[in-house]
Amino acid sequence: MNIGNSQWLAQETLRTHFATVRRQTLALTAGLSAEDCLLQSMPEASPVKWHLAHTTWFFETFVLARARADFRPYDESWRALFNSYYLGIGEPHARAQRGLLSRPSLQEVRTWRMHTDSLMQALLSTPQAPDLLELIALGLQHEQQHQELLLTDLKHHFWCNPLRPVYHAPPVGQATAPVPPTPPLQFAEQAGGLAELGHSGAGFGSVNEGFAFDNERPLHRIWLQPFALATRPVSNGEYLAFMRDGGYRRAALWLSDGWEAQQRAGWQAPLYWFRRDGQWWQFTLEGERPVRMEEPVCHVSHYEADAYARWAGARLPTEAEWEHAALESGTGVPAVEATRHPAPVREGDPQFFGAVWQWTQSAYLPYPGFRTSPGAVGEYNGKFMSGQMVLRGSSCATPTGHARASYRNFFAPGARWQFSGIRLARDVPVG
Ligand SMILES: [Fe+2]
Repeated sequence: MNIGNSQWLAQETLRTHFATVRRQTLALTAGLSAEDCLLQSMPEASPVKWHLAHTTWFFETFVLARARADFRPYDESWRALFNSYYLGIGEPHARAQRGLLSRPSLQEVRTWRMHTDSLMQALLSTPQAPDLLELIALGLQHEQQHQELLLTDLKHHFWCNPLRPVYHAPPVGQATAPVPPTPPLQFAEQAGGLAELGHSGAGFGSVNEGFAFDNERPLHRIWLQPFALATRPVSNGEYLAFMRDGGYRRAALWLSDGWEAQQRAGWQAPLYWFRRDGQWWQFTLEGERPVRMEEPVCHVSHYEADAYARWAGARLPTEAEWEHAALESGTGVPAVEATRHPAPVREGDPQFFGAVWQWTQSAYLPYPGFRTSPGAVGEYNGKFMSGQMVLRGSSCATPTGHARASYRNFFAPGARWQFSGIRLARDVPVG
């Protein structure tokens, strides 16, 4: 195929990016045993080994099988095992039973990854059509999503072990670093009016630059009433005040579904909090430690975020308000290394990105003019637009380079195992 110089450069960038992202996934598993990698603590939380295999399956199924007419899968019998939900490809293995897959072994999965990587590198060393490059860019964004899921899933698996395993040591000096007092929670007013929502890209960019998932498109116009958005997320200390004020016992604060969910599950505090010696502690990927009041509250469901907002005399933002305010703030996405634990709130740091995902009051729905891609890959996002709420921003576990203002994360309103927190909003009277 004859391609221009600039497209070849873009493909070369993609080839380098491919090697980096694939290596980063493996690096996350460096300190884990084969036993660690097979754990599945609940249907929603997949084994580490499954994440390693499924991200490889994605390239095999959606890129290599399409690029080469004579392509044969590495092992035909694995195709169903590591298919997540693409019914256009075939019937997947049951999600709740991923932890039963002791075979193929972790070593076999690693070998499969290396084999697939060498096929992908060979593919990318000769000029490829733009639509195939777009699928590869999608596969890398997909892999980065799974890097975060691998960590949130692993955290839940480890939480279920009374030994409370430590995933990694805290950064040097972190425990002794002085933490400034929590700045007062303030609200920044926005005038509202005619605004734009979504990503302007016409398709998948060839690298992170310009990439957007289909659910972020098309860019469209909306109308915003005047509103005010909190200048930082809600802190643990503030959330503890809600708990002490009987937040979990006052039905009037809760959505009906939320009240039912917390009564059934017995929620008294965010996920991973526990009492020890009259104090609140929390489990982190760095092990157990007392809850730090200055950090953003994390691992709360949409129901808890909504009840907290009502208690605080506020509400959750809509996703349009969030995106508008994040863009207006001009802070951009900070290029910080993922620490896997949210940094304390600080004066002047809005923490739109890199601390906790922020629940919105917006149901996860298609934007006007939304179109899915043709074929099975079109099942990526669109078919989940029912019964889920949008979260905005990014978290301390989101890979560097994966966040953007238009990003729409989504989970069921009762989900708590993601790094999910709260940012408040308020109405501003018109005129
Ligand atoms: Fe996936």
